Amino acid sequence: MKYKLELAPLGECQSDVACVFVYSGQKIEDILADYDPAFGRKLKPFADQISQLCQQEAFKGKPGQSIFLTTFGHMKAGRLCIVGLGEAKDFKLSHARKAAANIVRRLPGNSAQTSMSLFFKQATSATEKKVAAAKTAKRVSKSGQKSVGTSIDEAPSKSSSKSASITTITDSDIIQAMVEGIILASYSFSKYKSSKNGDNKKPPALQTLSFAGFGLNAKAFAAATAKGEIIAESTNFARRLIAEPPSFMTPTKLAEEARAVAKEFGLTVKVLDAAQMLKLSMGAILGVARGAKEQPKFIVLSYDVPKSKRKVAIVGKGITFDSGGLSLKPAQSMEHMKYDMSGAAAVIATMRVVGTYKPNFSVMAVVAATENMPGDNALHPGDVISAMNGKTIEVNNTDAEGRLILADCLHYAVKEGADELIDIATLTGAVVTALGRVAAGIMGSDQQLIDKLIASGEHAGEKLWQLPMYDEYQESLKSDIADLKNAGARGEAGSASAAMFLKEFVSGKSWAHLDIAGPGWIDRDREECNKGGTGFGVRTLCQYLID
Ligand code: BES
Ligand code: MN
Ligand code: ZN
Repeated sequence: MKYKLELAPLGECQSDVACVFVYSGQKIEDILADYDPAFGRKLKPFADQISQLCQQEAFKGKPGQSIFLTTFGHMKAGRLCIVGLGEAKDFKLSHARKAAANIVRRLPGNSAQTSMSLFFKQATSATEKKVAAAKTAKRVSKSGQKSVGTSIDEAPSKSSSKSASITTITDSDIIQAMVEGIILASYSFSKYKSSKNGDNKKPPALQTLSFAGFGLNAKAFAAATAKGEIIAESTNFARRLIAEPPSFMTPTKLAEEARAVAKEFGLTVKVLDAAQMLKLSMGAILGVARGAKEQPKFIVLSYDVPKSKRKVAIVGKGITFDSGGLSLKPAQSMEHMKYDMSGAAAVIATMRVVGTYKPNFSVMAVVAATENMPGDNALHPGDVISAMNGKTIEVNNTDAEGRLILADCLHYAVKEGADELIDIATLTGAVVTALGRVAAGIMGSDQQLIDKLIASGEHAGEKLWQLPMYDEYQESLKSDIADLKNAGARGEAGSASAAMFLKEFVSGKSWAHLDIAGPGWIDRDREECNKGGTGFGVRTLCQYLID
């Protein structure tokens, strides 16, 4: 995609579609005239018609609301889209991302719209200054009750705040978020559709995206669009890995994908086969892999900064299909279990961004990829296996396989010198019960790291909600015959007991665990997230590692 700063006034904008963002309560004629004085003069009759249409359609600038109309030759752009942002005082970065995504959802799929211009202004800087002066300890978003017509030139110059408590939203943030919203909502996976034209829900491919009303220079603009683009494209990359059928996206194929990422983004890659895993005593992964015909793969992607002492490991669960093993899942629960490698997809995708932005510390992605199948050599419920760190595990439920493979990954990462561990996994059905498909559960041993990840998620548009790790939960993992068992009591804090299990393998390191079983998959399109595997976590991890 090509990105441009739109220089023409609204009426003269040459794009196929011109989009105007509106806060609740703003008068549409005022906004149009603000972007082009002609709407107060020569184009006044057209502005009045638009305003009338908005009234008829009860368009009030609410989030999710939009009006799409043909411009009948009044404007150079063939179509005009008016998009609601909600109350200016409640404005959040995620509203810009969602509003941009909603435009793509409204684009007519049959006719080719290849260029689009977005007209957006932050609320007045006068109000913003007042807010800054008030130094509210709470999160601060740009707010303003006045119409956006005034003082655009004083666009915020502050670069994005590092402070966790006060967040300012910069023009760069907004542009990045809008680029993300558009690319994410444009995602589709039609590889297996035999008649590509028959799928008319597929949005047309945009080629040029222009932005008007922003007060930032060309360099900052290019940086913001590039960042939004790589993060959104990497999320879509993860979505594609997840969307592939499980017989295609095998552990071997996943390793090939990781190799291709390493090559393209200048990372080193290591792929271990079962024999090499055996040498490293990775009994937990090998145990899970026993029931499968497909060969397991242990995948490590590294970005190394030799001078740096800091090494972050991002660990992803790569179960390419979870049947439950001998503790077989019922058919309904198995239907979408190709997405049980969403954590792996997220960390591999994140490494594309790490390789691009080259942070000044080392980052290592660790993935254990295997199927969980009930083949004739499968683990029996009751078997005891020995993890890489020497701990013995009684496998009382073969469907609690995610924590087994993660146990070896986490220990491997510690042995490789990681001092900060973040694992991401579709680990428990319990987290779906607790938080639905809206938020991921986050747990861990380092509250600071957890807080930073939650803040990164908020900035990036992904919700993380912390669940407690009370010591009492450890009780349920006591085994009569081994060091611990893998599954706690059914129906009792399943997400937390899974996290308690993982904690046994992090050697006291700073660690956070993201359980993405809920938001990792959705059944219908929701703003920037298309139905199917969402690629949840990529944006949060990128925000945390890059900014
Ligand atoms: N992959 C599943 C968790 C899952 C469930 C992901 C629903 C997405 C949607 C995991 O391997 C699993 O089966 N967990 C069990 C653990 C239990 C046996 C202790 C679960 O949550 O039921
Ligand atoms: Mn399972
Ligand atoms: Zn699983």
